[in-house]
Amino acid sequence: MAHHNPWPDEGNTGHIWDDDLRELDNPPPLWWMLSFYASFIMVIFYALYYPTIPLTDEMGGFTKGVSGWTAYNEYQDDYKVLKDWRKAKFADKEEQIASMSVADILKDDELKSYAVATSKMLFGDYCAACHGAGGAGDPISNFPVLADDDWLWGGSIQAIEASIKNGRIGNMPARGMMGNLTDQEVDDVTDYVIALSEGKGGDASVAAGKAVYMKGMCLACHGPAGKPMAPAGAANLTDQAWRFGSDRDTIRGVIAYGVNVKKDGDYLEGTRQAVMPAFKERLPNADVNVKRLAVYVHALGGGQ
Ligand code: HEC
Ligand code: HEC
Repeated sequence: MAHHNPWPDEGNTGHIWDDDLRELDNPPPLWWMLSFYASFIMVIFYALYYPTIPLTDEMGGFTKGVSGWTAYNEYQDDYKVLKDWRKAKFADKEEQIASMSVADILKDDELKSYAVATSKMLFGDYCAACHGAGGAGDPISNFPVLADDDWLWGGSIQAIEASIKNGRIGNMPARGMMGNLTDQEVDDVTDYVIALSEGKGGDASVAAGKAVYMKGMCLACHGPAGKPMAPAGAANLTDQAWRFGSDRDTIRGVIAYGVNVKKDGDYLEGTRQAVMPAFKERLPNADVNVKRLAVYVHALGGGQ
């Protein structure tokens, strides 16, 4: 910066760089000044027109502005437009689902894909907490897998609909139907059940367990050879799909303490709890949503 000013009359500020680079003292252009003032006016206008100044709750939260506009209301209005549009666009499909039987919905490819596509969120919100994402089951709490072909209560579309609508409770008594199997008998029948799952139910080594199976009347629910005659909640014991876990202790525990066994109004210690809640009152818009979910679960892979 030079201290000597060779251009004293041109109205520069005396700030000079690189010998001749001067800062002048000109007023800003008129257009600029006008916009500058206009922006002040706009600030006042905005402050009066829109919600502006945050206040304490006692003072009303914030200044509301004369327009009544809020971002939230605008969002709500837009959302309503979208919702109305969706409703109008899909109203006939929703109506069809409400009025048709699940079996008929399955036969209609377009309606079926619509039901599946619109179920994903619903399943995530209401079912996945227990049945896992996409019905993959929950290996820790042992909620049943829905995405396979192994059904406790039946894989027909009507059975699935009934499971969702009315809920299901699997009941298995502790220690056989009369509740009087000894520890030895429970051990023997455990070995028999494991042999059944390996296709070795006929082996002489598990003959004792087989006799206990008859004595404990396991066959009443699990069928004479470990396969239920009709799906009514009892597990198929001849396959490798274990509802509560495949290790011997777990299997023995189920046989010793049963499933959903209650004593004096409380669950028996050690019993397995397996309750599928009824959804006919839990789901919003249940007359459509139960059917929609039934079609979805059926399509997950295991529907019969
Ligand atoms: C609180 C946990 C829980 C929730 C939430 C839940 N379920 Fe279940 N669900 C179960 C249990 C436990 C069973 C097995 C009942 C049994 O062992 O007899 C089951 C069984 C089922 C079955 C029968 C499976 C079979 O093998 O026959 C279907 C179908 C089913 N659930 C669908 C659903 C759908 C769809 C939803 C969401 C609307 C849902 N569940 C929500 C716990 C739940
Ligand atoms: C009143 C009907 C009933 C009787 C009797 C019964 N069970 Fe069960 N059993 C069930 C039901 C229901 C389940 C499945 C529970 C569930 O998944 O909700 C089950 C589950 C099992 C399981 C677990 C299967 C798995 O996939 O993890 C085993 C093992 C078993 N039973 C063995 C037996 C044996 C052995 C007996 C006889 C001592 C017996 N059950 C008697 C109804 C019965």
